[in-house]
Amino acid sequence: MTTLEGKVAIVTGAGRGLGRSMARALAGAGAAVTVAARTGGELDSFVEQTTASGGRALAVPADVTDESAASRMVEATIAEFGRIDVLVNNSGIVASGPLVDQSAAEWDRVIATNLRGTYLATKAVGGHLIAQRSGKVVNIASNFALQGVAGHAAYSASKAGVIAFTRSMAVEWARHGIQVNALAPGYFATALNAELRADPEALAKVTRAIPARRMGEPDELESWLLLLSGSASDFMTGETIVIDGGQSVR
Ligand SMILES: NC(=O)c1ccc[n+]([C@@H]2O[C@H](COP(=O)([O-])OP(=O)(O)OC[C@H]3O[C@@H](n4cnc5c(N)ncnc54)[C@H](OP(=O)(O)O)[C@@H]3O)[C@@H](O)[C@H]2O)c1
Repeated sequence: MTTLEGKVAIVTGAGRGLGRSMARALAGAGAAVTVAARTGGELDSFVEQTTASGGRALAVPADVTDESAASRMVEATIAEFGRIDVLVNNSGIVASGPLVDQSAAEWDRVIATNLRGTYLATKAVGGHLIAQRSGKVVNIASNFALQGVAGHAAYSASKAGVIAFTRSMAVEWARHGIQVNALAPGYFATALNAELRADPEALAKVTRAIPARRMGEPDELESWLLLLSGSASDFMTGETIVIDGGQSVR
């Protein structure tokens, strides 16, 4: 099992959903974890749960679209834990509907959260990772980046951007001993798709489109995250691992 004893991780969008379960997995593997998102109460409850079970965690309320918030997140982590080893760029939002009905403001919000947020946090940790000559960046993309999905142009484009960003940064930082990889999940039950899951017809249609005929379970993502966060992936960079029950390969 991957051990991250002595390592320090930052997870954005860790208040709930996949980010929270990935932050829990990193803490469970021994890492000290900074959790960031806009809703402070969710972060505080993560810190309470983690410290109660003997782990180390820090809450930093932050909007990932804000450059100064990204810097604060990094500075607070260094001040509390002394180093940074892993950044998980997980914060993300979705907007769905026909393109002609989508406002430019909505398009910008999706791109700003999913792509600009990934860029800002990666840039903010860059100086530290380069100086220590090691580090792992794990970007959370989506299998929607790899297939045409009607009604999701902004989201799919933002996540395809995340995959291209992952490749570029992998090449740029490989010489510094830093690995940059991505996970591309398919459907996992979270608030992000609560509306879809509440509609039995829509849910049945989605489930039929997944060869595995089910959504993923958080631990099916976490095991890959731990590999990409630890030494097992030291010679692997620029890759995107798709975890979607076969949805994007059919
Ligand atoms: N669930 C799926 O089926 C699925 C599939 C493929 C990819 N993904 C990706 O996985 C990631 C997590 O998704 P999820 O399903 O866990 O979503 P979720 O349950 O809606 O959680 C999203 C998290 O991102 C945070 N966030 C949103 N906007 C933010 C901002 N501007 N600044 C900082 N944090 C922000 C949210 O916190 P606040 O609102 O408090 O800021 C929340 O903690 C996303 O990147 C998503 O695109 C999910």
